[in-house]
Amino acid sequence: MGAFDRPQDFEDFIGQENVVDTLEVKIASAQKRGRPLDHLLLQGRPGLGKTTLAYIVTRQMGVQIKVTSGPALTKAGDLAAILTSLEEGDVLFIDEIHRLPKAVEEALYPAIEDLAFDVIVGKGPGARLLRLSLNPFTLMGATTRISLISKPLRSRFTSILRLSAYDLDEVAEILDLYAGRLSLELDSNAKKELATACRGVPRNALQLLRHLRDLSVVSQRKGAIDGALVKRALEGLGIDSYGLDPVDRLVLTALAKKGRALGLRTLSLLVGEEESALAEVNEPYLVQMGFLELTPKGRVVTSEGCAAVGLPPPDSPPSLL
Ligand SMILES: Nc1ncnc2c1ncn2[C@@H]1O[C@H](COP(=O)(O)OP(=O)(O)OP(=O)(O)O)[C@@H](O)[C@H]1O
Ligand SMILES: [Mg+2]
Repeated sequence: MGAFDRPQDFEDFIGQENVVDTLEVKIASAQKRGRPLDHLLLQGRPGLGKTTLAYIVTRQMGVQIKVTSGPALTKAGDLAAILTSLEEGDVLFIDEIHRLPKAVEEALYPAIEDLAFDVIVGKGPGARLLRLSLNPFTLMGATTRISLISKPLRSRFTSILRLSAYDLDEVAEILDLYAGRLSLELDSNAKKELATACRGVPRNALQLLRHLRDLSVVSQRKGAIDGALVKRALEGLGIDSYGLDPVDRLVLTALAKKGRALGLRTLSLLVGEEESALAEVNEPYLVQMGFLELTPKGRVVTSEGCAAVGLPPPDSPPSLL
C-alpha cells in the first residue's frame, strides 16, 4: 500500500459528517438485513472524496467494486459484461454518471428494477431477445453535475448524498495528514496560507503539498516550510491571497468589464476555458467566496468579486478623477 492511497476507513476520512453518518447507517442496516446496500448517488465538486467514499463503503460491506464511467460506456452492450460479472451485493460504481449515453441509461433501468439485462442475439428476422438475469447489486453513481442527470435516473437512487467544500479547520487537518505522509513540516503561517489556497478541496491540498515537497527537495531546504515559501510557491502557480487562480480572475474580470449578467457559454468563450471546468471548478468556489451569483439571467459578479480583482463594481458611476 503506497503512502498516498486514499483513506481506507471512515476513521481516516476527515469531515463530511452528515454523509458519513448516513452511509454508516445504510451499511449497518444492509448488513443486518443481509441485503445489498441501497443504490447511492454521490454528488459534489471534483476532488471532494466521492471515489474515496465509494471504496470505503465497499470495503466496509466486504464486497467487490467494479469501476466504470459514463463516457466509457458508449453503448448498451458495454454494460452486459460488467453487469453479468457482478456477484451478489457487489458495487457497480459509475463515475461521471451524468455523461451516461441515453441508450445505456435506459438499459440500466431493467437492471436496477428487475435484475435483468436484455440483449439481442443474432441479426435480421432470426434475431431474438435474450434476457440475462443478474445478481442483486448496488449501483453507486458519482457526479460533479447533478443538474445534468435525468429525473428518471435520479429517482432510482435511494439516497443522494451531497459532499460540500471542507471548512478551514478540516482542510488544516487534511494538510496535517498528508504533510506527515510526505515528511513535510509546515509552520503555522505556512498552514494558514495553504488552507486558503486549497479552496476547501482535499485534492488541492495534496497537489499543493506535493509541489512544496518538490520545491524543498530541489532547493535542498532543511527544516519547516514557512509562510514566505508558501507565498512564493502560490505566486508561481498564479494563486492569490483569496485562493483565486488565473481562470477565476479572468471570470471576475470579464463579468466586471461587461457589466451585465452572462451565460456560461459566453463566459467560456470570453475566458477561453471549457464550460464544464467553469461550472464544476471555478464557479462553485467563486460562489462560495461571495464573488459570484448565479441568477436566472446568468452569472453576475458581486462588488466583493470586483474588488478581489481590483475593479470597481459594474454599476458604480464613472470615477470623477
Ligand atoms: N475527507 C477526506 N479526508 C482525507 N483525504 C481525502 C478526503 N477526501 C478526499 N481525500 C483525498 O483527496 C483526493 C481526491 O479524492 P477523490 O478522488 O475521492 O475525489 P472525487 O470526489 O472522486 O473527485 P472527482 O470528481 O475528480 O472524481 C484523494 O487522494 C483522497 O485520498
Ligand atoms: Mg472520483
